[in-house]
Amino acid sequence: MDAVRFSLAALGVILLANGLAAEGLPVKSELVRARCGACHQVDSEQRMSRISYVRKTPEGWEETIQRMMRLHGLDLTPADGRKIEQYLSDSHGLTASELEKVAYSLASEDVEEQVPNGAVKSACTTCHSYAKIAGQRRTRQEWLNLKDFLLAMFPSLVYQHRFEDWPALCDKALPWLADEFPLETPEWKRESGQRPPQEGRWLVRGHQLGKGDYVGAITYRTAADGGFETEAVRQFADGSSVSMNGRGQWLGASAWRGSGHGSEIDRAREVFQLSADGKTQNGRWFPFQHPEQGAKEVRYRVDGSPRIAGIMPGALRRGASAVLRIYGSNFNPSLEPRDLNLGDGTTIDKVSERASDHVNIQVHVAADAKIGKCDITVGVAHMDSALTIYDKVDYIRALPEKALARLGGVRAVPRLIQFEAHAFSNGPDGIPGNADDLDLGLVKASWTLEESFTTPNDEDKKYVGSIGQDGLFTPAQEGPNPQRQRSTNNAGDVWVNASYTPEGSTAPLKTRAYLLVSVPAYRELISQ
Ligand code: HEC
Ligand code: HEC
Repeated sequence: MDAVRFSLAALGVILLANGLAAEGLPVKSELVRARCGACHQVDSEQRMSRISYVRKTPEGWEETIQRMMRLHGLDLTPADGRKIEQYLSDSHGLTASELEKVAYSLASEDVEEQVPNGAVKSACTTCHSYAKIAGQRRTRQEWLNLKDFLLAMFPSLVYQHRFEDWPALCDKALPWLADEFPLETPEWKRESGQRPPQEGRWLVRGHQLGKGDYVGAITYRTAADGGFETEAVRQFADGSSVSMNGRGQWLGASAWRGSGHGSEIDRAREVFQLSADGKTQNGRWFPFQHPEQGAKEVRYRVDGSPRIAGIMPGALRRGASAVLRIYGSNFNPSLEPRDLNLGDGTTIDKVSERASDHVNIQVHVAADAKIGKCDITVGVAHMDSALTIYDKVDYIRALPEKALARLGGVRAVPRLIQFEAHAFSNGPDGIPGNADDLDLGLVKASWTLEESFTTPNDEDKKYVGSIGQDGLFTPAQEGPNPQRQRSTNNAGDVWVNASYTPEGSTAPLKTRAYLLVSVPAYRELISQ
């Protein structure tokens, strides 16, 4: 009996090995075979060396193709480049749930990464993000190839990493990556047949840096070139609205890449990823050269059912009367106050305006209403924790609390920092600084810079740049400054002070953030 089991196990190993040998994605595009075939061999099953054994994000493909042109002499027209990137993202891309895990890096979000493997952390993320690696799926051989690739690309790599045994760490990192991110994954088996969404309407909810929370809608219409034209309207708590027109396309089934222009912005880039169930898109849009600005946004697909996108304003004070606007889709056109619910403490006096995409309501909040977040209901649509009830503004925070700006304006694009002052309530427990504190949103603060005494007499405040009353810090120019001691550049560190006086109060609330202003990221300049 044991012998039979043993031989079956051995057979399993052989079958698995055969399965692995058969791995590789056929390249069905004539264009890819024609343009890349001179160096990448095609086999009898239309698999191309290297190309058939890796899957990447659209940005990953773009970078590889750029390198083929920069280093290996590949000659491509921009139009062919776009077509090849589209084909490879469509058929050798990442699936929705694979893409979701690295989405933060694609949309240029500023986050602290968690690297789950020590060897990868030391050997790889000294130069680039973990997401650049986790955004790839490769056969074992293709992961192992990276050692030679890196040593050939960066001959000084081992010397730069002289504080550790880089080759040995690399030999640990790559097999781990091969186990973690193989070419064929369960997600690939499950989702690789998915197609991107067709034209339609999406509700949006987001936060634009420096401007605050908004809600709205965006419509996608099929364009003549096979992509989509878009039309978006975003409405802010102060009643203002901003429209934006644009275009874009789906790369693969779930990566939306677009551009737009509107009344307040000349050229914005849109980077969104679709969820695996096809119902929401998460991402950001930002001014073309300034990914550090712009907005984080969620798009909810509008289908036949009623849905709430958000409520404006999103925070009410105990005892207050207010007009609120709830945005959404497919609202019943004959809604009455009894069809809506904003929690126990808030009474709806009147529905003053109703349409399928919004309702305006007059409400008052009881003087003893419970402090905290309330769910809201409009007809059959529901949204958790959408409305905040508070008693008073207890403190403010300047966000981000620690920031890194970069000098620029001569050759480098400066990296700006948009500071925001947020009002906070101590929350139900009345104690500041813990998890139940309530963020009441952005408030208009006044802003000043203050010397941080790290280096005596360096007068950083005078040189690093300036802050506007909208909280936007603009760094000074890069390069040596003859006016400074030893003609050094304008880098330095300062405190950023915010001051805000809540309505009905005379005492201003104050806070500060720490700002480091550094030299440009010269690596970005080289690849421009
Ligand atoms: C003139 C020769 C040449 C042409 C044409 C060429 N490549 Fe390459 N390719 C190379 C060389 C050399 C390497 C190995 C070094 C490297 O990765 O840069 C490579 C490596 C690759 C890799 C593996 C990189 C990795 O680690 O993921 C991919 C994928 C690839 N090429 C895709 C393409 C595509 C797609 C095209 C056509 C648009 C193309 N190549 C055209 C020479 C070429
Ligand atoms: C010395 C700096 C450095 C180190 C260390 C480094 N990389 Fe990179 N890596 C780069 C650069 C720069 C690129 C972009 C290459 C190009 O121009 O296309 C890159 C590209 C890549 C790519 C994309 C290749 C492609 O064509 O899509 C992968 C995957 C990658 N690195 C993985 C790793 C892994 C895994 C490690 C650790 C074992 C590592 N890197 C260590 C600098 C580094």
